[in-house]
Amino acid sequence: MSDKIGTIGIITSGGDAPGMNSCVRAVAREAAANGAQVIGVNNGYEGLISGDFQVLGARDVGNILQRGGTVLQTRRSEAFRHPEGQRKAIEQMKKAGIDGLVIIGGDGSLNGAHVLAREGIPVVGVPASIDNDIWGTNMAIGVDTAMNTIMDAVDKLRDTASSHGRTFLVETMGRGCGYLAVMAGIVCGAEMVLIPEVPVTMDEVVEALDSAYRRGKTYAIIVMAEGANIRTADLFKVLNEKRVGFETRVTILGHIQRGGSPTAFDRMLASRMGTKSVEALLGGQSDVMTGLQGRDIELVPLTEVNAHKRTANLEYYTMARRLAT
Ligand code: F6P
Repeated sequence: MSDKIGTIGIITSGGDAPGMNSCVRAVAREAAANGAQVIGVNNGYEGLISGDFQVLGARDVGNILQRGGTVLQTRRSEAFRHPEGQRKAIEQMKKAGIDGLVIIGGDGSLNGAHVLAREGIPVVGVPASIDNDIWGTNMAIGVDTAMNTIMDAVDKLRDTASSHGRTFLVETMGRGCGYLAVMAGIVCGAEMVLIPEVPVTMDEVVEALDSAYRRGKTYAIIVMAEGANIRTADLFKVLNEKRVGFETRVTILGHIQRGGSPTAFDRMLASRMGTKSVEALLGGQSDVMTGLQGRDIELVPLTEVNAHKRTANLEYYTMARRLAT
């Protein structure tokens, strides 16, 4: 163990993602195995500013590996965006004897991680966001579980859609990144996928649906990312007015996608990234994020992560369209 880091703070921040708890457990246990202490920060950066801490020994993280959400709670902190909030957070860390931090979260949280690293705090970020919009990692923690939740929901909707000969508009999360919608388009066999990365006109959607019915389809699934340029409610209205195909129904999957017990993939990813983050901190690394690249967990500089935005894979988008023929 490095002689610098004796106590590691751990935070979950931003939108929760299934597998965050698996990662908290891995960090606490890996640190304990190395003789380091872990302090859990409650309520994300808000808790760092107010000094809301709890000691996390190896026994304190029992029975959380399989639980969705985050036992540390999470917040989106406005106060931490400002220098005054950041100053208070650093003060609280020093007071509690926290030598370095593992920060588990999405793009906003990883931006915050870099801010602290620039102030000289050893920090390792761990990507967790169901949107899979974080650059530098093939998968973020939570994505696989969300994907499986969506697949399960759309399979069920397909049963009723086919029974009634209806069109279902299914809205997935993804404000700026269409990853979930594109993958759902492939694994659930949607007639069309609407994502922020590829704006389409209302006429194009109507024509695609019309053509599907002319080709003999008797029902349809359209998967729409919440950030797509066409709003779900507007499309619903137009499809009803134009009477394309048959009746239309809407399902907004919403926060259901953020909950649930993490899949085996997410538990494994979270455990590997948690372990790697402790190893990195104790080895003197900082200002980096753990990223899944190929089969390996690599360390990626946070400056690179924060300088890029990951978008949906457009080859998969095209594949989804072709497979809808
Ligand atoms: O960033 C993850 C995400 O799940 C987005 O897909 C979604 O738009 C947003 O969080 C919802 O945030 P909140 O939980 O604050 O409503």
